[in-house]
Amino acid sequence: FAFTPANLAWAEAQMTKYPEGRQASAVIPLLWRAQEQDGWISKPAIEYVADMLGMAYIRVLEVASFYFMFQLQPTGSVAHIQVCGTTSCMICGAEDLIAVCKDKISPKAHTISEDGKFSWEEVECLGSCTNAPMAQIGKDYYEDLTAASFTKLLDDLAAGKDVVPGPQNGRYAAEPKSGLT
Ligand code: FES
Repeated sequence: FAFTPANLAWAEAQMTKYPEGRQASAVIPLLWRAQEQDGWISKPAIEYVADMLGMAYIRVLEVASFYFMFQLQPTGSVAHIQVCGTTSCMICGAEDLIAVCKDKISPKAHTISEDGKFSWEEVECLGSCTNAPMAQIGKDYYEDLTAASFTKLLDDLAAGKDVVPGPQNGRYAAEPKSGLT
C-alpha cells in the first residue's frame, strides 16, 4: 500500500497540524484517507500509516479495529452498507432492511455481493434514531427507510444513478449526491 501522490500530500499536510512529536494524533484522518483510497484498510495500509506516523503497528491496529467506521476487510466496489440494528431502528423495521441486504447483497454480513458492488453489516446506533430505520453509506445517512425505498436505493446505486441522502420519505428535500467517498 502507498498513498497516491495527492493523498500523500494531503496526509503530510495533516501531520503538520500537530506539534512536533505529536504526529500520531493524525492517525484517524490518515486511516480514513487510506480507506477512501482502497475502500478498506489492509494490513499493508496499517503498516504504511504506522511508518508515516512513527507508531507501532499494533497501536494503529488498535485504533482501526476500535471504530466500526473502519473496514478491515474488502468491501463492495460501489458501497459498503451499514444498517443500524439498535432499538429505535429495530422497532421501526431494521430487520426488513437487513433482509434486503441478505437478499440483494449476501446472506452473510461482510461478504461481497457476487457482482462485486456491495457489502453490508449491521452496526449499533448511529445517532439518527428519530429517523429510524436508517443506514449509513459512505459518509451519508439514508433515513426513514422502508424495504421498498431501501431496495430502490441499492438499485439506483448499482446503476450509477445519483441518490439523495437524508430522509427517504420526503420529510425534507436534499441535494442529489453523486459519489460516495
Ligand atoms: Fe438506529 Fe439510533 S437506533 S440510529
